[in-house]
Amino acid sequence: MEVVHTVKALEELLQQPRQQGKSIGLVPTMGALHKGHATLVERCVAENELCVVTVFVNPTQFNNPEDLRLYPRTPEKDYELLRSIGADIVFVPSVEEVYPEPDSRVFDFDQLDKVMEGAFRPGHFNGVAQVVSKFFDFIQPHRAYFGEKDYQQLAIVREMVKQQKLPVEIVGVATVREQSGLAMSSRNQRLSEEEKEHASEIYRIMRESTLLVEEKSPDQVVRFVIEAINNVADLRVEYFGIVDGDSLQPISAWYDSENIVGAIAVYCGDVRLIDNIRYR
Ligand code: PAF
Repeated sequence: MEVVHTVKALEELLQQPRQQGKSIGLVPTMGALHKGHATLVERCVAENELCVVTVFVNPTQFNNPEDLRLYPRTPEKDYELLRSIGADIVFVPSVEEVYPEPDSRVFDFDQLDKVMEGAFRPGHFNGVAQVVSKFFDFIQPHRAYFGEKDYQQLAIVREMVKQQKLPVEIVGVATVREQSGLAMSSRNQRLSEEEKEHASEIYRIMRESTLLVEEKSPDQVVRFVIEAINNVADLRVEYFGIVDGDSLQPISAWYDSENIVGAIAVYCGDVRLIDNIRYR
C-alpha cells in the first residue's frame, strides 16, 4: 500500500494502471476510520482492480469551526486498517494541495440540499460536492463508494454525477451498526460509554416507529420519534423528517411514495449524530 500526499505523486501511481485499463475504485473518507469505512473499502477492493482511499478532513464542508477542530484524526490507525483490508493507494493531501486557490464553485442541487442536513448546515453539501468533484477529477474512478448513513450526501453525489455526466458509478453501501444499533460514525469516538448507550435509543426508537405506519400518519410518526428521543437523557433532536427517498421532500401520506425514508439529526451532549431508516 502506498501513502501519497500530492496530486503529482498520486497521478504517477495511477498512470500505469490507467494505461493497462485497470478498474479503479475510490472510497473518499475523512479518516478516523471504523467498521463502516472498512465495509466500504472491502467492497471497493473486491469490485475493482485498484482501490484508492482518500483521507482528508475537508474544511469547506464544515460550517462550524469547532466541529472541524474537534474532528478526530487517527492517521496511523487508519493506515494500519487500510493495509489489512488491501487498499492499494491512500491519498492524504494537505488543504493547500486540494485547494491551491479558494474553491468558489457553487453547485445547484435544486431542492435536494434545501432540507434536512442542508437546512441545518448551510453550505455543507456545496463543500462536499467541491471536494468529491476534485477527487473524481484527480483519480477518475470507475466506481466510488459512499455509506447510506449519509443518505442525503449519497443523493447529492448521485445528482452531481448526473448533472455533470461523469463516467463514475456511485455505489451506496448499507449502514454498519454497533450491536446496540448505534450507527457507526467517527463522531462516536467523542461519546462516553453512557452517552453511547443513550445514543443507541435513536435507532431503537426509529425502528419502533416503523411499526406504527398502519395506525399513524407520517406527521404523527414524526412527532412520536421526536418526543420519544427527546425524552432520553443527553439526546436532543435537531430534525426528524419522513421523506420521499429520491426527492428528499417530506411526504404527508404513506401512499405518497414507494420509497420512504426517515432521516434524523440528534445531539448527544455536544456531539451531532445522524442516522436514517427505511419505512418502505
Ligand atoms: O462522508 C464523508 O466522510 C465526507 O463527507 C466525504 C464524502 C469524504 C467528503 O469529504
